[in-house]
Amino acid sequence: MLFFRKFKRRGIVMGAEQRQMDSHKKMVIAIAIASTSLGAVILSVLCIWIYHTKYPSKSKGKNVQRSDAEKGLTSAPTLSKFSSIKLVGKKGCVPIIDYKQIEKATGNYKESNILGEGGFGCVYKARLEDNLEVAVKKLHCENPCAEQEFENEVELLSKIQHPNVISLLGCSSNEDTRIIVYELMHNGSLETQLHGPSHGSALTWHLRMKIALDTARGLKYLHEHCYPAVIHRDLKSSNILLDIKFNAKLSDFGLAITNGTQNKNNIKLSGTLGYVAPEYLLDGKLTDKSDVYAFGVVLLELLLGKKPVEKLAPAQCQSIVTWAMPQLTDRSKLPNIVDPVIKDTMDPKHLYQVAAVAVLCVQPEPSYRPLIADVLHSLIPLVPVELGGTLKVAQLPQQVLPGNPHEDSSP
Ligand SMILES: Nc1ncnc2c1ncn2[C@@H]1O[C@H](COP(=O)(O)OP(=O)(O)OP(=O)(O)O)[C@@H](O)[C@H]1O
Ligand SMILES: *[C@@H]1O[C@H](CO)[C@@H](O)[C@H](O)[C@H]1NC(C)=O
Ligand SMILES: *[C@@H]1O[C@H](CO)[C@@H](O)[C@H](O)[C@H]1NC(C)=O
Ligand SMILES: [Mg+2]
Repeated sequence: MLFFRKFKRRGIVMGAEQRQMDSHKKMVIAIAIASTSLGAVILSVLCIWIYHTKYPSKSKGKNVQRSDAEKGLTSAPTLSKFSSIKLVGKKGCVPIIDYKQIEKATGNYKESNILGEGGFGCVYKARLEDNLEVAVKKLHCENPCAEQEFENEVELLSKIQHPNVISLLGCSSNEDTRIIVYELMHNGSLETQLHGPSHGSALTWHLRMKIALDTARGLKYLHEHCYPAVIHRDLKSSNILLDIKFNAKLSDFGLAITNGTQNKNNIKLSGTLGYVAPEYLLDGKLTDKSDVYAFGVVLLELLLGKKPVEKLAPAQCQSIVTWAMPQLTDRSKLPNIVDPVIKDTMDPKHLYQVAAVAVLCVQPEPSYRPLIADVLHSLIPLVPVELGGTLKVAQLPQQVLPGNPHEDSSP
């Protein structure tokens, strides 16, 4: 709401070729641009004025959407291709889907369609007409926080399009229920993969590095390519979702805020235990470095296969950071704390390097943490080319290649 008024359409930048034109042409163009922009300004002022007078409580700068969406790198799935899906309106540039249709698509919120449960409700698998499979988040808004997170997420996600950020397909509402429709991520969350029944066995070392790289790419986009910068504020393994090829995307933008609003007192302390940076917990200080801290915790989860906070005994918890820190920088101890599922499957040099990156990310002092862009660049050489990095397959040590481990033991 308040936070997003600051999103602005990128200014029209004059190109160099215009400078080379003769002054006459320049003049004509300048006048044309000036009159067009004046016209546009007058028109938008009029629109805003009409909007304000018609819907005084709900106007939130709807005239500025698309600016970031237009910079998206891939074409995200859209509902417009699916002709039979009933759209009943638009919320900003987000399609509003008929509530009855969503109810039907989830089998009336059948329990077997539940993909996961969050703080304010469940996420369901749904099959819309035209066989489009989607994920449906159902929020119960008796709690005003849920309503606010709904508005926040729809508003923000509608402006973001990136291969490593979840796509918003639509929304809907009915009485106290709010619905957000996302692209379906077939392999669920990183949390489920790591700490669910398979205990990370589907995730090889290289896949883990790819997931870390994808996550860093998504964060870099939020921190450096959105204007003003977006701080996710709730990065954790349950908010990193995986598609069939284990491409990772960031989800859950209910708490995200844009830069410039973090010093205001209206932001209540929130986040998830184990991922929250110490300066935020102690002073409420929130910057892009808080996301880097949370990223470091996720990196430790990938490396060690442990949850960010382990219960040792009732009422006694230990954070992965406190536990792992002394061993991460000790090369003789590090291999022993690696997730048993991936133990001895990676180049030890790569292991030391990732551990060093994780140590930097979880530094208590935010200014000692790297920028996510620097983290990203140190991860790229560790990820095979086929998975989006620059590591050549030939460089892989023998043991990583499954199928023919005894290739060179011929008589
Ligand atoms: N688009 C999606 N595709 C597939 N599974 C999803 C999708 N969105 C969410 N899920 C699953 O549903 C779970 C619950 O999501 P949700 O974001 O509501 O809660 P959470 O991240 O566990 O906790 P919190 O409410 O604190 O964010 C996720 O962890 C994930 O397993
Ligand atoms: C990933 O998703 C595909 C398609 O749904 C499924 O067949 C496969 O078992 C999943 N793998 C894991 C590890 O979840
Ligand atoms: C946020 O804004 C401040 C100035 O208001 C700036 O110094 C800082 O670099 C910005 N942070 C990000 C992540 O862009
Ligand atoms: Mg979530």
